[in-house]
Amino acid sequence: AGVDDFLTRLPKVELHLHIEGTLEPELMFALAERNGVELPYADVEAARAAYDFSDLQSFLDLYFLGMSVLITARDFHDLAMDYFRRAAAEGVVHVEMHVDPQAHLARGVSLDTVMQGLISASRVARDELDLSTAMILAFLRDQPVEDALKVLEQAGPWLEHFSAVGLDSAEQGNPPSLFREVFARAGQLGLARVAHAGEEGPPSYIREALDELDVCRIDHGVRAVEDVELLERLSDEGVVLTVCPLSNVRLKVVDHLEQHSLPRMIDAGLNITLNSDDPAYFGGGMRDNFAACQRAFGWSDETMRWLASNAIEAAFMDESRRDALR
Ligand code: HPA
Ligand code: ZN
Repeated sequence: AGVDDFLTRLPKVELHLHIEGTLEPELMFALAERNGVELPYADVEAARAAYDFSDLQSFLDLYFLGMSVLITARDFHDLAMDYFRRAAAEGVVHVEMHVDPQAHLARGVSLDTVMQGLISASRVARDELDLSTAMILAFLRDQPVEDALKVLEQAGPWLEHFSAVGLDSAEQGNPPSLFREVFARAGQLGLARVAHAGEEGPPSYIREALDELDVCRIDHGVRAVEDVELLERLSDEGVVLTVCPLSNVRLKVVDHLEQHSLPRMIDAGLNITLNSDDPAYFGGGMRDNFAACQRAFGWSDETMRWLASNAIEAAFMDESRRDALR
């Protein structure tokens, strides 16, 4: 794609991104060298070749392995800057990043280390790239609920930097309702709520996230198409869905992009946004996700503008910034 094409120039807002999922193999190897960490890959090409996933869990295994090279605040700064520069170059103007503190605490990396690096990178992004950012404190749903509560308490000093809490990692068998108390506490602390639901899990998890966690956005939500009443509710309530098309293909949520339920979701009146999830692992950033969908579904430029606009309206950003992007 040219640097000056319509989809690159279209101002894009990313609402569903895991910052640890932006770690490209090149930087992974550079940080492994810097920190003396052993990787189970011979080289960058071997790492990319290993990214051949059969489901969410097979991805999560390599996602948690990859982040083992992130040790110092400088590592987290470099991780985020590397991504912010790529994102800005493809026309991304605002990024909301999920952060997985539990994945770092479990390796002996403190929350201070993580936050210092991500906050300094966010400042550079704003000052040098005109890229605004927000952070989402994500809980690992396959870990004990008590750990999530502990992380939320520990995040006290950093709370002003978070816009919301989120819920990620292995979905099946880990329903949203387990985290009711954690999310209620987050609400009391003034944080918005989002949750992954209906990626691999059933439509009932989407209902639970809405009813028990009081979320304003559903991350993924693609299995909503299996439940007509749920579709109607999502449409009536204007619930924002952060859909990640290339992620869904790579994690075999769908066989081919052409079979993705996105067109049906749009026909059902849902408030859809397009996002990249873990671009270093799923073979493409925001522009690639937009381009792949436009090609697969034959969408007009007007539809692409509508999708980008939905994300601007749903973002955790100042009204002045939103006005500037409208
Ligand atoms: N789903 C659940 N957890 C995740 C994902 C995802 O797509 N990416 C990173 N953590
Ligand atoms: Zn995700």
